[in-house]
Amino acid sequence: MKTLEEIREAVAYIGSRTKLRPRVAVVLGSGLGAFASDLSDATSLSYADIPHFPSSTVEGHQGSLFVGNFKGVPLYVMSGRVHAYEGHAPDAVVLPVRVLGLLGVKSLVLTNAAGAINTAFRPGELMLVTDHINATGLNPVVGPERTELGPRFVDMTEAYHPALIAACQQAARRIGLNIRKGVYIGLLGPSFETPAEIRMMRTLGADAVGMSTVLETIAATQMRMKVLAISCLTNMAAGVQPHKLDHREVLEMGKRIRSVLLELLAELIPAIQKAG
Ligand code: HPA
Repeated sequence: MKTLEEIREAVAYIGSRTKLRPRVAVVLGSGLGAFASDLSDATSLSYADIPHFPSSTVEGHQGSLFVGNFKGVPLYVMSGRVHAYEGHAPDAVVLPVRVLGLLGVKSLVLTNAAGAINTAFRPGELMLVTDHINATGLNPVVGPERTELGPRFVDMTEAYHPALIAACQQAARRIGLNIRKGVYIGLLGPSFETPAEIRMMRTLGADAVGMSTVLETIAATQMRMKVLAISCLTNMAAGVQPHKLDHREVLEMGKRIRSVLLELLAELIPAIQKAG
């Protein structure tokens, strides 16, 4: 169990390395790390150097926190995240989000790679997450009540903030991008799903499936951060098409979608800063 002192040590370390105090943060998922190079006056902090930060072991996820200005907007960029499937406890997975919350972040943009369950969707498209189904069997709020972080019984009615969703749709329209909307189902992984599981999830109302995001969204919502999540649809989910899935395919498509995602973020981040 990560203590509040441990979270505060990470906050103090980051706070001592930069004078910037961003109110917006972006978490980059699989193979999406390049965005960090677009920051000016950037400070780069390796996760390994930040007290108590978990380090990732997955190919395609480097682990650095960047702090800098992006188009004049002070911004944190987490390049790489850890997943529960690596063996990290839920409260280790969300520690960086809690640290960002205590550092003063009000709006959190989560990105991820996901498989498309909705057969109208195509690999290479982006999906705005309007709601989620937490099917990990885990929850980062389990444990002793810590009122410093927020309420124990977290209201998840509007976890994905309607104003941020609207701002992202407008940003997409301005750059001529057709963006999907849908429900993300978060699983523990790391095995991909079976075709029967995907059929079940479609029946349950899920449009895309992945192995991240839901725990981070719960932790951020507990702290009253506004959350926006964008899924990069890297593949059709298992059984939708006749061929098999593999992680390299996910990374390859992630690389191809990256430029579109970055273009969208470039349009979106100044709008988020202005809104709030
Ligand atoms: N399933 C789960 N996670 C994923 C997938 C998938 O098909 N694609 C990318 N992340």
